[in-house]
Amino acid sequence: MPEPKNALAPEIRQSLVDAARSSQHNAYAPYSRYRVGAALLTASGEIFTGCNVENAATPAGICAERTAVAKAVSEGHRQFVAIAVITDDGGSPCGTCRQVLNEFSPQLVGIVATSDGEAVYEAPLTELLPRSFGPANLRRADSSPYGHE
Ligand code: THU
Repeated sequence: MPEPKNALAPEIRQSLVDAARSSQHNAYAPYSRYRVGAALLTASGEIFTGCNVENAATPAGICAERTAVAKAVSEGHRQFVAIAVITDDGGSPCGTCRQVLNEFSPQLVGIVATSDGEAVYEAPLTELLPRSFGPANLRRADSSPYGHE
């Protein structure tokens, strides 16, 4: 298989996958029993992990990827290079998580692997969420609603 554009260095990919796998152990998924771990690499080289955290009131639950994004953003990080996502079956990030990642880093690379260590795919978010809607759609040349950002 040819290396994708924006391919990560193998040792960085491995650290992300390992971090995501250890976060999967913390998944709180008593309802679905579907355990997800994520690890998000910031532009400054830090890794923020996340797991899914379900709730008896179903919509109050949150996915692993968005847990990681919320942790990173709340610590002052908004630029992301890659995210690794680990599940037992190699499932892909959901559409809501793709949208949330797109808000900050449309060029980010997604790495999907299984908890057994099998690589499923590595692909840029531009491929996972093509023709996306994002912050640029809401910016106007005359007055930016993000003036304070
Ligand atoms: N889940 C994630 O954590 N990430 C995804 O991208 C897909 C789904 C979680 C949500 C829920 O806790 C469980 O997996 C089953 O949907």
